[in-house]
Amino acid sequence: MKNERGGWGSKVAFIFAAAGSAVGLGNIWRFPYQTGMNGGAAFVFVYLIAVFLIGLVVFLAEVSMGRMTKKNPVGAFKQIKPKGPWFLVGILGVFTAVMILSYYGVIAGWTLGYAVKSIRGDFSHKLTEEFVQNMFVHFSSNIGLNLILFSLFILITVLVVSLGIKGGIEKLTKILMPMLFIILIYLSIRAVLFEGASKGLAFYLKPDFTKINSRVILFAITQAFFSLSLGMGTIMTYGSYISDEDYLPSSALWVVSLDTFVAIIAGLVIFPTLFTIPGMSPQQGPALVFIVLPVVFSKIPGGAIFGFLFFLLLVIAALTSTISLLEVPVAYLIDEKKWKRKKAAIAVGVLSFIFGVPSILANVKGNFFSNLPIFKKDFLSIMDLLWGNISLLLGGFLITIFVGYVWGADKAIKEITKNGKKFKLAGLWKIFIKYFVPVVLFVILLTYVF
Ligand code: PFF
Repeated sequence: MKNERGGWGSKVAFIFAAAGSAVGLGNIWRFPYQTGMNGGAAFVFVYLIAVFLIGLVVFLAEVSMGRMTKKNPVGAFKQIKPKGPWFLVGILGVFTAVMILSYYGVIAGWTLGYAVKSIRGDFSHKLTEEFVQNMFVHFSSNIGLNLILFSLFILITVLVVSLGIKGGIEKLTKILMPMLFIILIYLSIRAVLFEGASKGLAFYLKPDFTKINSRVILFAITQAFFSLSLGMGTIMTYGSYISDEDYLPSSALWVVSLDTFVAIIAGLVIFPTLFTIPGMSPQQGPALVFIVLPVVFSKIPGGAIFGFLFFLLLVIAALTSTISLLEVPVAYLIDEKKWKRKKAAIAVGVLSFIFGVPSILANVKGNFFSNLPIFKKDFLSIMDLLWGNISLLLGGFLITIFVGYVWGADKAIKEITKNGKKFKLAGLWKIFIKYFVPVVLFVILLTYVF
C-alpha cells in the first residue's frame, strides 16, 4: 500500500513538484488573455492582491490538511470528519481534476503543434495580424491533427503518473523550471525593446484604477485559484507526500511566488509585442498567446529555434500540470478503492480523453459543440467556466470553511508548527482562513449565480 502511494525524495522536492503543478498554461496562456480581456494593469493589480491575500492562505490550508492526513482529498476529509457529507468536497475535486484535464490537454496539444510549426519555419517571415489569426483558426479547427496531439499528451501524462510520484515529476521540474525562467526573461527583454513597445507596457503595468469592477475582481480571484492549482485538492494531494520535517509556510510562499513571477514575465512578453502589431486588440480571448507569440519569434534573430524551445518548455510545463491533475483521481483510486497505480492512471486517462473530444470539436466553426444551445457558447469555454472557474472557487470556499471551523484553524496551525517550527503569522492566517477568505469567496460565488 505504501509503495503504491510513494513520497517525495527530498525537502525541496515538494516545492519543485508543486511549482510544476502551478506553473503551466495557466500562467502563459490563461493569465495574459484574462489580463487582456479585463483591463490590463488594473487586472494585474487585483490579481497580485488575490494571490497573496487569498491564494497563499488557501494554499497553506490545503498543504497542511494533506500532510496531516497523508491522504488523497476524499480520504483527508473522511479522516478528519468521518461522519457527514464533507468527503463530497473531495469527490468534487476528483471530478474537477478529470474535467480540467480533458480540456487542458487539448490546449496543451496546441503548444505541441506550435513547437513543430516553429521549427518548420512557419514564423520565420514577417507576420501580419490577419496571417497569425488565420493560421490559428486553420490549426485549431484541424480535428485529426488535434486528436493526435491531444491523445499524445494524455498518453505521456498517463505514462509518467503510472511510474509513480517520485520517478516522474521531480526530475522533470528541476530541469524545466530554470530553463523556462531563462528563456522567458530573455524573451521579455527582447519584447520590451521592440519599437513601439511602450504602449503595451503602459497597458500592462500602469493601472487605471477606475477599471476595477466586480468582473475584474471575480476573474482575478478565479485566475489565482486556477494558476495556483487550488480548490480541488491537487495541492492537498501533493502535500500528502511531504515529510513532517518540511516547513510549510516557506514552501507555500516559494511556490506561490514562483508561479506569480512566471505569469508576470509572460505578460511582459505578450503585451509589449501585441501593441506593435497593427490591428491587434488585447481582447482576443483564449487565442491570444497563439497569435502574439509567433510574432515575437518572427521579430528576433534565431526565432525559429527560440520558438521551438519556448513551446517545448511550455509543453513540459503543461505536462507537469496535467500530471498533478491526473494524480488527484489516481491517489483517490489507490487509497480508497485499492486500485493499482497503473490501472487507475489508464482508466482516468481514457475518461479524460473521451470528455476532451468535444473540446476539440468546439473549435470547428459550425460544429454542434462550437455553439451549444442554451449556453450560446462553445463547449471548451463552458468546461472552463464550470470546472476551471466555479468548481475551483466552490471547492476553495468549502476547504476554508472545513479547515477554519470543522477541523479547526488551531489544529491546522498545530500541524504547521509541528516539530518545534515557528509560524509568526499564525494569528493573521487564522483570521484570514476563518473570516476574510470565505466571505470574499462566498460573495464571488454569488455573483456567478446571479
Ligand atoms: N495551475 C495549472 C496552470 O496554471 O496551468 C493548472 C491546474 C493544475 C489547475 C492543477 C488546477 C489543478 F489542480
